[in-house]
Amino acid sequence: MGDANRGLLAGKVVIVTGAGSGIGRAAARLFAAEGAKVCQFDRDRDANEATAALITGDGARADCHTVDVGNEAAVAGAVDAVIARHGRLNGAFNNAGVEMANKLVTDLSAEEWHRLMDVNLTGVFLCMKYQTRAMAGTGGAIVNNSSGDGFIGQPYAADYVASKHGVVGLTRAAACEARHTGVRVNAVLPGLILTPMVEERLIGNPAFEQQMAPMAERHSIGRYGKPEDVAEAACWLLSDRSAFINGSMLTVDGGYTAR
Ligand SMILES: NC(=O)c1ccc[n+]([C@@H]2O[C@H](COP(=O)([O-])OP(=O)(O)OC[C@H]3O[C@@H](n4cnc5c(N)ncnc54)[C@H](O)[C@@H]3O)[C@@H](O)[C@H]2O)c1
Repeated sequence: MGDANRGLLAGKVVIVTGAGSGIGRAAARLFAAEGAKVCQFDRDRDANEATAALITGDGARADCHTVDVGNEAAVAGAVDAVIARHGRLNGAFNNAGVEMANKLVTDLSAEEWHRLMDVNLTGVFLCMKYQTRAMAGTGGAIVNNSSGDGFIGQPYAADYVASKHGVVGLTRAAACEARHTGVRVNAVLPGLILTPMVEERLIGNPAFEQQMAPMAERHSIGRYGKPEDVAEAACWLLSDRSAFINGSMLTVDGGYTAR
């Protein structure tokens, strides 16, 4: 059961984007259990509300905001709504993202490229912009969800790999501004995590399955990840226990990118 007076995030107001599924859902549940007042952003209203219902079942509460993170006015309005309701913001996990088109560079259309970039990179930028303004000078923390593909390349994934390298750059640049903003900015870089993105949409795609055999071997810990593995890392990075961590790229990948 969540207790606002106890836990790693006790009393903190924290935004989770992409809270309706996978890693975002696990993060919203864990942060609430660790005492946070969770503000869920997702463009899928039903999925977002299903996560909030799970949190209610866990004995805690979360607010739902239907937001497309690629829409600046929607992001600005939702961050304003968080401040109006709670009076402050202490942290954010910018996790919303979409999977690659699974095409070679030569076959990728500009429309597919922009569709992914609008969410995976512009969405993170827009969220950071309004979250950082809301947290300025208050000692808040932001964690962005990049990927092992923020470090290394993959075939059939130029759109995704470029967006996730972009999240690494954005995180590092914003971390350099902590002196001005008072906000710490870090990223998590997950390996293959068994979420609906992977289990329902990527597995079964021949281009993606070609990558899975070498990927399995490189997850040297002997398994793929669970959404909770990433949620735990993000939780710690948002907590005061990581107060001196800024500009860090934390791999959560069972050793995937270690070689
Ligand atoms: N699953 C993996 O193996 C893996 C590995 C590395 C990184 N990641 C990253 O983790 C994040 C979460 O992935 P997941 O596997 O949990 O995916 P998922 O598809 O299970 O969940 C993604 C959630 O984001 C929401 N979303 C998508 N676009 C949005 C938008 N424009 N505005 C608001 N919400 C939006 C969806 O509605 C969904 O609820 C993504 O950024 C993904 O790139 C995933």
